Amino acid sequence: MIGIIGGSGLYEIEGVIIKDVKKISTPFGDPSDFYRIGEFSNKYVAFLPRHGSNHSIPPHVINYRANIWGFKELGVERIISLSAVGGISPGMKPGTIVIPDQIIDMTKGRNSTFYDKEKVVHIDFTEPYCPEMRKSILKAGKDSGTDLKTSGTYVCVQGPRLETKAEIKYFSGIGADIVGMTTMPEASLAREAELCYAGIAVVTNYAAGIKKKRLTTTEVIDVMEKNSKRLKKILRKVFTLMPNKRGCQCKEALKEAGI
Ligand code: HPA
Repeated sequence: MIGIIGGSGLYEIEGVIIKDVKKISTPFGDPSDFYRIGEFSNKYVAFLPRHGSNHSIPPHVINYRANIWGFKELGVERIISLSAVGGISPGMKPGTIVIPDQIIDMTKGRNSTFYDKEKVVHIDFTEPYCPEMRKSILKAGKDSGTDLKTSGTYVCVQGPRLETKAEIKYFSGIGADIVGMTTMPEASLAREAELCYAGIAVVTNYAAGIKKKRLTTTEVIDVMEKNSKRLKKILRKVFTLMPNKRGCQCKEALKEAGI
């Protein structure tokens, strides 16, 4: 089963026939919502809206540990994370779909590990996104005729406020291409849980100070909704392209990672 985490402006995926709804409790508390189990392109998927179905959970309050634990408990092996981001580097204009390959973590104080008692674990995070999943997503873009940015560094900020002009200038200087609030610790928790994780990010706005225009949340949600058809097209294709058995190293992330 493949997990999908929906972001701002994406609370459900039309086309998914919901077969079941699962409420899961975890040792870390409750996930953002029920998991919708459905069928999409002849594959089983578990869908979770990251901010809750009525968008009531802000990025810094999301229980990332419970969300990832819930997927693991459902038997999900791979997660596709959909998100809205601001565009920093040239070419990252609103409507661009990016398959990020690197992350810079600027979040603070989030519960970012399953291992903070008894066991000490340091997972390898050199490649934060699953290379095998990224390959399938890139091919899905090509095969479905959807234009994609094939790489990009995602800087994850704490939020919930948007950035200052100076912050974006700094992020640009350290190599960030897009900015968002939710990829961390989602991605590293997935790795700790030995799940494959890849992102599909939609640029919903120019990041602060890139253009003169004031940023609004309305714009973010609007652009995301406008692009949901394109996302669905890629997703449908990805499901047919993903190999049945995982051939990457994500499934053994804990091997030799503990002390
Ligand atoms: N900054 C941070 N997070 C975001 C943005 C942004 O400009 N757009 C969408 N999510």
